[in-house]
Amino acid sequence: MKAVIFDLDGVITDTAEYHFQAWGSLAATLGIPFDREFNEQLKGISRSESLDKILARGDRSSAYSADDKQELAAQKNTEYQRLISALTPADVLPGIRPLLTELREARIGIALASASKNAAFILDRLELTHYFGSVVDVTAIRHGKPDPEIFLTGAVNLGVQPADCIGIEDAQAGIQAIKGAGMFAVGVGTPSQMQGADIVVATTAELSLRMLEAHFI
Ligand code: G6P
Ligand code: MG
Repeated sequence: MKAVIFDLDGVITDTAEYHFQAWGSLAATLGIPFDREFNEQLKGISRSESLDKILARGDRSSAYSADDKQELAAQKNTEYQRLISALTPADVLPGIRPLLTELREARIGIALASASKNAAFILDRLELTHYFGSVVDVTAIRHGKPDPEIFLTGAVNLGVQPADCIGIEDAQAGIQAIKGAGMFAVGVGTPSQMQGADIVVATTAELSLRMLEAHFI
């Protein structure tokens, strides 16, 4: 095991909940039904793809021009940025800061593979930026999760082979991306939401260097 590549939202901090709330507000103003089960499909998916899925659910796919859609996505992001503006280092999920510290001490590479354009801001608010050898630039990625490109780019940036990497994700699309990259996949959530993961933990509190080394094959 030479590197660990982390998803952000729902793994490092609970911003998956803020994405859910911000999309929920937008869906409500559009009169489109929205719930946690449907929200699972949006995890790991870009802002514009998420909007397309919500509009499709409301049979509204062709009701908006490209400009209208950009405006709707911007509305969601404004609400999301309002929610994340109050993040502090106390909002790092349990077990994550100790794990990052252990990885750094063991000289194991650390990268971020998040589809979010707000990722750098969030790492900064959490005071975690200094741990990361690579934060993959999502604007340079051509294919989003479930495509493996973002995880493979993280490995290239760290100078390690995919087979020597562990990916950690809370989204089904993310687990597919990690496995597609030929990496060991750790899912955070329930086994039914994390199909294909090599191991699943209920919460990040279960993660540690020892635990990852014990399972990594
Ligand atoms: C992550 C989250 C998604 C989010 C996407 C884009 O993948 O899991 O829920 O839609 O990032 O985030 P952004 O902050 O750019 O809208
Ligand atoms: Mg996530």
